[in-house]
Amino acid sequence: MENFEYRNPTKLIFGEGQVDKLSAELEALGAKKVMLVYGGGSIKRNGVYDDVTRELKAAGIEYVECDGVEPNPRLTTAERGVKIAREAGVDALLALGGGSVIDCTKLIAAAIPYEGDTWDIVVRKHIPTEVVPFGTVLTLAATGSEMNSGSVITNWETQEKYGWGSPLTYPTFSILDPNYTVTVPKDQTIYGIVDMMTHCLEQYFHPANAPVQERMTEGVLKAVIEAAPKLVSDLENVELRGTILFAGTMALNGVLQMGARGDWASHNIEHAVSAVHDIPHAGGLAILYPHWMRHVLDESNAHRFATLGENVFNLERQDDLMKMANDTIDALSAFWTSLGAPTHLANYDIDASTVEPIVKAAMSRGDFGNFKSLGEQDVRDIVTASL
Ligand code: NZQ
Ligand code: ZN
Repeated sequence: MENFEYRNPTKLIFGEGQVDKLSAELEALGAKKVMLVYGGGSIKRNGVYDDVTRELKAAGIEYVECDGVEPNPRLTTAERGVKIAREAGVDALLALGGGSVIDCTKLIAAAIPYEGDTWDIVVRKHIPTEVVPFGTVLTLAATGSEMNSGSVITNWETQEKYGWGSPLTYPTFSILDPNYTVTVPKDQTIYGIVDMMTHCLEQYFHPANAPVQERMTEGVLKAVIEAAPKLVSDLENVELRGTILFAGTMALNGVLQMGARGDWASHNIEHAVSAVHDIPHAGGLAILYPHWMRHVLDESNAHRFATLGENVFNLERQDDLMKMANDTIDALSAFWTSLGAPTHLANYDIDASTVEPIVKAAMSRGDFGNFKSLGEQDVRDIVTASL
């Protein structure tokens, strides 16, 4: 196991009706005026906006709004949010949405007190020393952003999409009500399931000796695999929504990654794909991840894949570990396909003509991958195999 320190300051408030704790949480922050940050309007259709603004009004907390945060949130939107927040003089932010809204809120929170260019924060030219406090009301189970410090932002002009984070960018609190996720459409529900499973898998494939973390990760994966097919055919089932909601948070709040950093190469490649083509993050992952697995599999690491097959996909132990490893990859692909996830980049009209821009975007910071380091030709091979 690697040395580690762990501290997660986000207060998780989970369950039905928990929005009634919102004003108390904001008051504890000393917030008198907040900026609501949200996306393209789902919160106005499903009652989240009404519930939240009712709470704020009852507590006498003023608010302004920054709407229109797009999936794969853009730098320009965060800059707009910074302007609105500064002009209004808000003392806290409240993200109402999924990972994109929360990630955008994190950047706004860090950029408000910073005089320089907002992009400096994403490319780590400026390390935040203070941020405006923020909470979240999560509406989509997927990224874990509600309980981690990460934020992924796209600079559409330069075709760059990078993750960044700071110990200061954990949400102060996050309210997770499964009822708020029942309106997530089928495709986004599937993407969320693929994303949280991939977060587990990215962390499962690591070079350290970390059996406790691996068994915990297998547990989260098994719970998701059991609940996901039922949920996809019963989207309004609140119990199943709750299971998936909690799984998404646990998959990427740092618990599974203590003492073992994980690989994360597939996320890097997917971020490059969606920097060039504006596709859903986990749609890209569903396609790329099995190809990453096949690319890095060899005799020396086949046992890790085989253990995943045995413990998570209930495959029978075989003497031929390479065969078993390939069966495991097939089982994962078959599971995602059975849910309705995409299988080829061609599903998003991506063809060979943009492989090189994707490779360039992925390699912009040099080789990457902790389980197996990937260079330019590796990335080219994985993306080409995914077409
Ligand atoms: O914009 P609105 O109208 O709200 O609609 C959204 C959006 O179109 C909709 N939606 C959300 N909640 C809903 C709902 N529709 C109906 N009912 C609800 N309750 O869903 C669509 C997708 O939302 P988005 O926030 O983009 O999805 P997700 O949570 O999957 O976030 C994806 C982003 O997070 C980044 C990804 O790269 C991508 O940019 N990631 C962030 C991570 C992190 N911060 O830790 C880690 C991840 O690996 C990932 O990279
Ligand atoms: Zn992800």
